[in-house]
Amino acid sequence: MNTQPDILCKLNGIVKHYPILGGVLKRETGKVSVLNGIDYEIERGSITGLVGESGCGKSTLAKLLLKLEDPTAGEMIFDGRVVKKLSGSNRKQFYRQVQMVFQDPYSSLNPRMKIKNIIGEMIRIQGVGWEEEVDRVRSILRQVELDSDVLERYPHEFSGGQRQRIAIARALIVRPKLLIADEPVSALDLSLQAKTLTLLKGLKEQFDLTIFLISHDLKKVAKFCDRVAVMYLGRIVESMPGDRLLNHAEHPYTRALINSIPSGDPSKRKARNKVIKGEVPSPINLPSGCAFHSRCEKRLPKCDKSIPQLKQTSEADHQLACFLMDE
Ligand SMILES: Nc1ncnc2c1ncn2[C@@H]1O[C@H](COP(=O)(O)OP(=O)(O)OP(=O)(O)O)[C@@H](O)[C@H]1O
Ligand code: SF4
Ligand SMILES: [Mg+2]
Repeated sequence: MNTQPDILCKLNGIVKHYPILGGVLKRETGKVSVLNGIDYEIERGSITGLVGESGCGKSTLAKLLLKLEDPTAGEMIFDGRVVKKLSGSNRKQFYRQVQMVFQDPYSSLNPRMKIKNIIGEMIRIQGVGWEEEVDRVRSILRQVELDSDVLERYPHEFSGGQRQRIAIARALIVRPKLLIADEPVSALDLSLQAKTLTLLKGLKEQFDLTIFLISHDLKKVAKFCDRVAVMYLGRIVESMPGDRLLNHAEHPYTRALINSIPSGDPSKRKARNKVIKGEVPSPINLPSGCAFHSRCEKRLPKCDKSIPQLKQTSEADHQLACFLMDE
């Protein structure tokens, strides 16, 4: 029996650097090293979470996955094909197969368009006829739990949660294989956050989707995701099953993130709510060795000299990039 995971998207050594241009001649005077060697696999049918502090490169990775930008180095393989080699109809198909839901449902929907057109234009460009377009828009609206009387209305007439469902409908109507959701619920009220995530989980089954969920909220990704990757300064430092994250993470950075989650229990609040010490180093001037060494309470003498690679631990589906695992 084949027990190999079915991989939808594979990232090999992905690097993204932006040049810093200076002077009258706009010469390159430096670079912003945003992604610094990402090797990662997204399993088909999974919900994979990506967490990390602001500025660590999460949205940049999303842009690369969508092919809105190209990597400086490295290769992405999607559904068995090398993405940078795609051309013609295969390239068009790729752009359909990877869709995105953004954090802000207010700015991601065109305020001057009716809902029927915001969603319908996604399939109109595929040459779908008018009647089929309306049928499919009505059907997708039902699947995101909105009535079809919304068709003639404009985005400003809806609440944040409804707008996010319209954005999800717009992404799903083209039947993508991979849905990237960048902080999809952080602009919503707490009560709507869980509801929207539950809806997404149900849609994943109905649409045979793979979801890549970017979030700051460790508790949410732990609960919602099959697997969670933790990013620090453009590298994945730990990856493990979501249901083991909060109690079994081992990387000092992941542990520090978990310890900084505010606790609902006042007796644990002091022990938990600990802010990670020090500043995140600048991606313009990356530290040597392990990028976390200046903030790490467990650092070893070698930690500022070489970069720990992401390696499998003794636990199933648990990878770690830290020298402590060799001790
Ligand atoms: N076009 C660009 N040119 C230069 N630097 C950029 C560019 N785009 C992003 N960056 C830098 O890359 C870093 C990562 O940005 P990114 O938006 O990917 O972070 P993030 O993890 O999504 O943060 P947040 O959680 O705040 O959304 C930041 O330091 C940002 O300033
Ligand atoms: S490699 Fe060293 S500095 Fe980096 S997280 Fe592990 S112990 Fe800390
Ligand atoms: Mg972001």
